[in-house]
Amino acid sequence: MGVRAFGIDDQHLSAILISEKELQDRVRELGCQITRDFQNRNPLLIAILKGAYPFLADLARAIDLAVEIDFMAVASYGSATKTSGVVRLVKDLEIDISDREVIIVEDIIDSGLTLSFLQKSLYARNPISIDVCALLVKEGLQKTKLDIKYTGFSIPPDFVVGYGLDVEQKYRNLPMICTYSPNC
Ligand code: IMP
Ligand code: MG
Repeated sequence: MGVRAFGIDDQHLSAILISEKELQDRVRELGCQITRDFQNRNPLLIAILKGAYPFLADLARAIDLAVEIDFMAVASYGSATKTSGVVRLVKDLEIDISDREVIIVEDIIDSGLTLSFLQKSLYARNPISIDVCALLVKEGLQKTKLDIKYTGFSIPPDFVVGYGLDVEQKYRNLPMICTYSPNC
């Protein structure tokens, strides 16, 4: 039997991987860590749409600093549950990041190709620094070496949905993270 979501037993949702409470507790910890690390400074949080929207909303409220917030959107070509690695910028920033301390807020790092693309694009704009805060990092799948300063959870390399993460735009509003089985 699948996990109960949206009032039905969804056969595609095979298990709850991270509960709502675990997510909220860990996001609060990340917020405290960022608050300590950036004391008396005002980093710019750059959230990557669409997946990072709930994470950004909770994380930003857990940071006790005068942060600023901006958004980028990227699209990667591929099937519903596999990234192709070819990434395209769909929405750019509105804030100039030169001489700013930047924190990229990402939902999930899988191959790492999306993050590499974003870092390259942002470094070219002369920020003071770029740190990465990723809610989820899939173990052992990264194709390039990545320096992720803040990680919410390391997870097995299964496809997951919820808390911003989707399959064909669905499941983003689940308050927890579930593993997704396409063949059920
Ligand atoms: P990467 O470029 O392979 O690291 O993939 C990163 C992007 O692929 C994320 O920002 C997500 O949009 C998407 N993605 C990767 N794994 C998952 C998953 O398990 N569920 C939902 N989206 C995922
Ligand atoms: Mg995505």
